[in-house]
Amino acid sequence: MDTSTIIAIAVVAFVVLGGVVLLAAARRNETTKAIGALSRETKGRDAGATTISAREEGKATASGKELELAAKVEQRESSKELVTAGSAAPTAWVPPDPDTLGATRRQFLNRSITGFFVIGLSGFGAACIAFLWPKGGEGFGSAIRVGNVDEIITEIRGNNGFLYKPEGRMWITEYPSSALDKARNVYSPLELAGMEAGVIALYQKCVHLGCRVPECATSQWFECQCHGSQYNQVGEKKGGPAPRGLDRFAMEVSGGVLTVDTGTVILGPPIGTNTTGQEAEGPHCGGESSH
Ligand code: FES
Repeated sequence: MDTSTIIAIAVVAFVVLGGVVLLAAARRNETTKAIGALSRETKGRDAGATTISAREEGKATASGKELELAAKVEQRESSKELVTAGSAAPTAWVPPDPDTLGATRRQFLNRSITGFFVIGLSGFGAACIAFLWPKGGEGFGSAIRVGNVDEIITEIRGNNGFLYKPEGRMWITEYPSSALDKARNVYSPLELAGMEAGVIALYQKCVHLGCRVPECATSQWFECQCHGSQYNQVGEKKGGPAPRGLDRFAMEVSGGVLTVDTGTVILGPPIGTNTTGQEAEGPHCGGESSH
């Protein structure tokens, strides 16, 4: 856009603006003047007002003394009325009883809304506190006393190699003592505490997208039905899209009794970890392994 166009636009804008200002001023002036003609009725009323003014003017022509006298007479009359009214014995004022008075509809509504608001907030606060309150000694998230290790192993064997503990959302399987030397190079002391006693506690959640991983009785592996991840019996990754082995829990064995701390989740071993060398012992439950 060249300079002359800009100047032209500016001039037009000034002219338009000036026009608007002038129009506005003209309208303001118009509103201060009477507009149109008066009706006959209005004119009649105005004539009546003139009569009243004339009467008032007549009053104003009375002398000062007359006016003073009239004021005194008026005052005396009104004081007489006051005396008459005051002759009755005054009754003591009693403040109204709030219970008798009751609440207005508006007060009732306001109080109800406030009440509901307070109750709702209290409920929400209580729910938050309950959610954040540390869990007691039982259930998932706490240390669970599973039982005597020998009895657990017997139970695992009687259950075709797998023992599920729903209260801890965990699988417990046997860990072969022959694999311990390799295991010591891979696993932490918190895991080894149970493995050295002969068991391992695995979190049931698939490390791919979180499905619950079931055991496969034929292959003797864990095989996720969601996307086909596979793990051997001690939770080391064997196939599928899982990024590592199954996560597991810290364990402690004291006096032959296994306690699993489900509040301490340990990430599963990296892909390629194979301490037991267990191959599939039969057909897969969810198709062939995809290594
Ligand atoms: S959630 Fe298990 S393989 Fe995807």
